[in-house]
Amino acid sequence: MNDIYKKLQDCYACVRAKTDFEPKVAIVLGSGLGDYAKDIEVVSEISYSEIEGFPVSTVPGHAGKFIFGYVKGVPVVCMKGRVHFYEGYPISDVVLPIRLMKLLGAKVLFLTNASGGINPAFSAGDFMLIKDQIACFAPNPLIGPNIDELGVRFPDMTHVYDLDLQQAIKDAAAENEIKLQEGVYIQLTGPSFESPAEIKMLRTLGGDAVGMSTVVEAIAANHMGMKICGISCVCNLAAGMTDNPLTHDEVQEAANKAAPLFKKLVTESVAKFENLL
Ligand code: HPA
Repeated sequence: MNDIYKKLQDCYACVRAKTDFEPKVAIVLGSGLGDYAKDIEVVSEISYSEIEGFPVSTVPGHAGKFIFGYVKGVPVVCMKGRVHFYEGYPISDVVLPIRLMKLLGAKVLFLTNASGGINPAFSAGDFMLIKDQIACFAPNPLIGPNIDELGVRFPDMTHVYDLDLQQAIKDAAAENEIKLQEGVYIQLTGPSFESPAEIKMLRTLGGDAVGMSTVVEAIAANHMGMKICGISCVCNLAAGMTDNPLTHDEVQEAANKAAPLFKKLVTESVAKFENLL
């Protein structure tokens, strides 16, 4: 058996030994959304460190666990904390949690993240519905022998972000009077923030927001046939767009400030997914 698939199966067995919960929606909580657990009717929690072989994040603010429970009656699994490629994990480990949540039953993947705004019409604190994505120097997680049990060798990427889920998020935002921008998310590897020249390049490429996650996760999920949606919390304007240097603390602070509204948008959107599942 393929080593990557074997590791995934082992992690699956480890989780199934602890819970038989079957989520329909998998939610990845980005920076600042970490305390979303309070909005979930929690059934059980499993720390990543309890799952043998599972990648455990080293980033402050990303300490990790799976939270199983219900959001407005919808069975969900939430990832509190994700691992990033810049931490030094192989890309197969970075997407392992996504694959695992699919095996556990999730048909929908709701990705959230913190990003830097590239689009000059954006402000810090805006939320952006992810309409499409660009991988920029982030390795493709499907490189290597294809894992036929998961998906096909050459997956189509025309509609990575599901149109019905996008509409549900737009409806949730409108009904709750939450301003929602739309755009293309670009993933670079990090961990350094971008240079102003790189931001200019990314704008030319068609990016609206930039970050260090999400795109590779969406590629792996799309490979497995999950329906995907995503919202980015634009925590700062990207390098060179203001005179201020960027710091992780500033990003975290902006994410924390936006968190209550961001959580509301996630919850109200999940409630609308009910009839799409
Ligand atoms: N660049 C990359 N990742 C980020 C940024 C940024 O400006 N802000 C939050 N995550």
